[in-house]
Amino acid sequence: MKFADRLDNFGAEIFAALNEKKIACEAKGQKIYNFSVGTPDFPVPDHIKNALIEAAQDPVNWKYSLRDMPEMLQAVCDYFVKRYGVEGITQDMVMSCYGTQEGCGHLCLALLNKGDTVLLPDPCYPVFQAGAFLAEADPYYYPLIAENNFLPDVKSIPEDVAKKAKVMIVSLPANPVGSVAREGIYDEIITWAKANDVIIIHDNAYSDIIYDGNIGQSFLKYDGALDVGAEFFSLSKSYDVTGARISFLVGRKDIVAAVKKLRSQIDFGMFIPIQKAAIAALTGPTDSVKEQNKEYQRRRDALCGGARKIGWNIPNAKGSMFVWAPVPEGHGNSMEFCMELLEKTGVLCTPGSSFGPSGEGYVRMALVATVPVIEEALKAIESSGIINRK
Ligand SMILES: Cc1ncc(COP(=O)(O)O)c(C=O)c1O
Repeated sequence: MKFADRLDNFGAEIFAALNEKKIACEAKGQKIYNFSVGTPDFPVPDHIKNALIEAAQDPVNWKYSLRDMPEMLQAVCDYFVKRYGVEGITQDMVMSCYGTQEGCGHLCLALLNKGDTVLLPDPCYPVFQAGAFLAEADPYYYPLIAENNFLPDVKSIPEDVAKKAKVMIVSLPANPVGSVAREGIYDEIITWAKANDVIIIHDNAYSDIIYDGNIGQSFLKYDGALDVGAEFFSLSKSYDVTGARISFLVGRKDIVAAVKKLRSQIDFGMFIPIQKAAIAALTGPTDSVKEQNKEYQRRRDALCGGARKIGWNIPNAKGSMFVWAPVPEGHGNSMEFCMELLEKTGVLCTPGSSFGPSGEGYVRMALVATVPVIEEALKAIESSGIINRK
């Protein structure tokens, strides 16, 4: 039996070959330095864990929740004031989702018809593209390239594309390229969106992982943002609760209502102990968020600075938990380089091409190892002689 045609949009597992090589290297007893996955290695703050544990003791909390608790929605509204200086968010402008990953997939289904144009970054976080494919929309990829500091440039979007576009997804700090919003960029995007009647969805997964004294903002802080769009606000990376699947869609009421309507057909609500954990995160201390950001910066410095010392010219990431490293000259494409690097050094990265065509020529390295481990990995790279070999 031929299952749904939409499955054909999702390619074969491109990581299979890399994974096989990793297993083979491990079997040989080679040490693996795994920089390929973006799962944080920091502990969950106690107050968040305890809120979940306490709530889970009460049998009532194991029933269908059926809704977002008003206390949780209000905690999000208050957090936007306290953390981002965004006033005016009301509970009907907020909904929970099981992570931005899930939320983004369903948002595309709620907003896009077959054949609608959706603007996506290239390279991009893969669910943006998957959401478009699920909705059978037509993606138009706007490039995030070095010449433009890996930032979106609405001026370069052709007028005919702008006119037919329905939704544009923007995400800064950016995975995989590590760029951050420059002054004025959101104002330009909002003006462009209004002129062309395009909805902007901003994915703000990394507002708390940003370097060199910058402070991550919310897209919703900018004038007119609430007229054109909404933001995904995930607790995954700021609070190290990736497995609990806590994110929110926050913004224009009709957008939130549309996604809520779709999800209410297939969902009975977030587990109450998880909602309690979310409230604890949103209302509790934020020291751990700041401390871990400092540690990410130390890792960024160790990796990018250390790589430059051994002749691999990796520019500093400006934000996100990722480093976007150019494939050194003479090493083939990004997949070939990842395979070679893994085999010769045990360092495992993700090929840039897996994030879109403009990702070719780069590999992504996640800052998920401590400074001593990063230093050890760089020593392995240096002694392999791989970088300076042409
Ligand atoms: C840009 C971006 N958005 C969203 C997510 C996932 O967020 P969540 O855990 O809320 O699904 C990630 C995770 O790597 C990401 O890089």
